[in-house]
Amino acid sequence: MHHARRRGNRGHVTLNEIILHVNGRAYAARVEDHWTLLDVLRNQLGFTGAKKGCDQGSCGACTVLLDGIAVQSCLVLAVQSQGRSIVTIEGLARDGRLDPLQSAFHEVGAIQCGFCTPGMILSAKALLLRNPDPSEDQIKEALSGNLCRCTGYVKIVQAVKMAAAERSQAAGAAPQDVALRADPAPQAGSGT
Ligand code: FES
Ligand code: FES
Repeated sequence: MHHARRRGNRGHVTLNEIILHVNGRAYAARVEDHWTLLDVLRNQLGFTGAKKGCDQGSCGACTVLLDGIAVQSCLVLAVQSQGRSIVTIEGLARDGRLDPLQSAFHEVGAIQCGFCTPGMILSAKALLLRNPDPSEDQIKEALSGNLCRCTGYVKIVQAVKMAAAERSQAAGAAPQDVALRADPAPQAGSGT
């Protein structure tokens, strides 16, 4: 991490030059120490699929994967996210094909306003990465930090079950699932 400059007369404000690995690509960003991963993803890098609901760790709308684990990105500092593999909802589809969870949410009608959906899907993705055949209780537990005002959760749980069943029929982890857990290798391509 490189300290780029100090600013202003209200004390020292340091901009750090950092590299974030998002959806398999490296992005340069200039951030203050206290900026959250959520704000940097949305405001600097354009990954607006991560939603800002409460901004205090209560709603789950900002959920992303960090090294394959679902985290609330409003509670993670951008500077702490360097060297980690970050996956947002924009990174789930591969080669023009939706992730099975995305397809299942669409198919069973688990989306109404859609504000909670990216976070729901990423929490479910983290669950299926560590437990490909979860029980209904395990699904509910995994989604317990993601609030939905619209659906009543029944169809959301149904969608996760459907995706898990499809995944087990496909026998084993898909290549993209392995990639989601892999350490980020520096890759070409950057932007702010
Ligand atoms: S915006 Fe992060 S938990 Fe609500
Ligand atoms: S679909 Fe509207 S908050 Fe969940």
